[in-house]
Amino acid sequence: MDLMNYKPEKPFAQRHLLTLQDWSADEILQTLSLALQLKAKQKAGEPHPLLAGKSLAMIFTKSSTRTRVSFEVGMQQLGGHALFLSSKDIQLGRGEPIGDTAKVLSRYVDGIMIRTFEQSDVVELARYGSIPVINGLTDRFHPCQVLADLMTFYEHKGELKGRKLAFIGDAANNMGHSLLIGCSKLGVNVALGCPKGYRPESEIVEWAKANAQAMGSDVLITDKLEDAVAGADAVYTDVWTSMGMEEEQAQRFKDFAGVCVDEALMAKADPKAIFLHCLPAHRGEEVTSGVIDGPQSVVFDQAENRLHAQKAVMALLMK
Ligand code: CP
Ligand code: NVA
Repeated sequence: MDLMNYKPEKPFAQRHLLTLQDWSADEILQTLSLALQLKAKQKAGEPHPLLAGKSLAMIFTKSSTRTRVSFEVGMQQLGGHALFLSSKDIQLGRGEPIGDTAKVLSRYVDGIMIRTFEQSDVVELARYGSIPVINGLTDRFHPCQVLADLMTFYEHKGELKGRKLAFIGDAANNMGHSLLIGCSKLGVNVALGCPKGYRPESEIVEWAKANAQAMGSDVLITDKLEDAVAGADAVYTDVWTSMGMEEEQAQRFKDFAGVCVDEALMAKADPKAIFLHCLPAHRGEEVTSGVIDGPQSVVFDQAENRLHAQKAVMALLMK
């Protein structure tokens, strides 16, 4: 499939990006297609002010480098403007309800991106606001990251349907969940290799299995890391201790002892497999991968694609 010239099956009909489970494969492919087109325009120096005069509020209750910078710069490249709202500084952090925040922001701006803990807060923001809401990471999902991941996978490998992506690490968290959804929606075989206590939520596994069945692809969840990685076209990992889980770090060090995407594990994948990581890859003593600087690593292409993928999301939702 030539994604750059993808022909939509139906008009894009989404109002929000809360989780990719709400989106059809066609809508995901339309987004990736627009992302590739916008990337080409940006590289060619061609202006593309699809959101001229529009504003995006960006609420953060957790830290961020990539998400914050890529949304802010992305809005500016689309001719609009973004406001960084730390929850510490706005009334939300002092107890103003999410619903009121949504109603107030809806009177000023054209879209809201939020990074926070509970998925239910993002859903509530969408329910009470009258403008598009984009999930910039919750404990449960990270859909913008997965759009960038699929874009990167496509750029390096071409056709995605029928390929295999293996994720190694904490699969009971945003990246494991969102990769299950995003891959299964597009017919990418997805395998999660995780210690026993870190399996994804069963509801999300069921969604992924149903998505995969419709696409003729597979879903595997295993504690045998080598089985997960076997023959994979992409091997992915994430931090063992996600934001908000810092108190569990000592326990997680124990639970993830011996888990590391190193050269030996990569050797079980396809010889031409790419290595992906949503980053940060190095954080204190936590070392999740030994191949981040190796020849198979495309982690900085992946980080860059956050910008292009999110510009496509904003253009589709906020135009
Ligand atoms: N991958 C990602 O979301 O990075 P940040 O936490 O830096 O935004
Ligand atoms: N699972 C990680 C992803 C960071 C981009 C976290 O939630 O901290």
